Amino acid sequence: MILPISRRRFFGQSFGITTGAVLARSLGLTPADLAGRSPGRSGSTPMIITSHRNATGQAALEEVWEALAAGGSALDAVEIATNVIELDPEDMSVGYGGLPNEDGVVQLDASIMDGRTYNAGAVAGIESIKHPSSVARLVMERTDHVMLVAEGAKEFALSFGFPEEDLMTEKSRAAWLRWRENRSDNDDWGPPDHLKGWEDEKGRGIPDAGGDRAAFLGGPEESTHGTVNVLAVDARGDLAGITSTSGMSWKVPGRIGDSPIIGAGLYVDNEVGAAGATGRGEDVIKACSSFYIVTRMREGRSPQEACEDALRFIDERYAAVGIDYRPGEKFVAINRDGEFGCAWNIGEGSPVMSVMDAAGYRRYEGANTTL
Ligand code: GLY
Repeated sequence: MILPISRRRFFGQSFGITTGAVLARSLGLTPADLAGRSPGRSGSTPMIITSHRNATGQAALEEVWEALAAGGSALDAVEIATNVIELDPEDMSVGYGGLPNEDGVVQLDASIMDGRTYNAGAVAGIESIKHPSSVARLVMERTDHVMLVAEGAKEFALSFGFPEEDLMTEKSRAAWLRWRENRSDNDDWGPPDHLKGWEDEKGRGIPDAGGDRAAFLGGPEESTHGTVNVLAVDARGDLAGITSTSGMSWKVPGRIGDSPIIGAGLYVDNEVGAAGATGRGEDVIKACSSFYIVTRMREGRSPQEACEDALRFIDERYAAVGIDYRPGEKFVAINRDGEFGCAWNIGEGSPVMSVMDAAGYRRYEGANTTL
């Protein structure tokens, strides 16, 4: 498989760590306290950010930082950092453990873009492969195409030696079974109609309604969508980015979101900067949001301002139709000078992203454009 080769190239001989070991280490990390609202300016390169604010996001950036600081490429850094996040079984929005479609099948989307070469690759609706971002990189580097989908993408990955694996975890399967059973009162999933609410003379329900099954069906609500963006600028001033996702949970089989679409879920331009999107992909596709953010930066806006501009662009479109509708997106962006920003239009609170540069790891709180 080609993956460890790029990893060795990036880390050099002294860093032979696998992402599995990294993940185990990452799960023991204590999350840093929120650093509070920062000005969104770092101004130092190299730098790498991710839209993830959790311990795995931190571990992903820490995994690549030393090599990036020592002159490693932004392209290798974003791939290896994303691989760490794709392997996290607790993350129900990306890679292994991501929530499946309505049939219980995990279908992953990912894209990568290399600012140095104006090259891009993507896979959409790929099944049974844990690292869609690395397959996207191979599409970019080993073909003259930009995107492969579904079975073709999987066959392509298998041809490079990626193993075919079950992407469902116990947790994601339980979430899907819970969703299927509770989806409607008007279907045939769940206890037989004549036993709903039934108890015997000792007050016991139907046999399988007790114990673990009750706990399973009454479990916590799972998130319905999420994605990860990883963007970097290296010591040579080259930029790269990746967006990777399991997409919207319970999606109609075959649905493709914004993540694998260059210009929507991701865009990178060495002259300007890079941007990535998470949230409801349908709106990001219609608004070409990542391209729009980079274009705004080209016009002189900071990464923070450009992310906010892109959210307003979407909200204004619905307002113009006369609909009071905010779909819910989070955008992150960096520029070639090492400045960064993030924003969302999701009702409450502020978005947070992870940043790593010479000043160390920190979490940055961006803007909520609805407040
Ligand atoms: N932003 C991820 C998706 O909508 O699929």
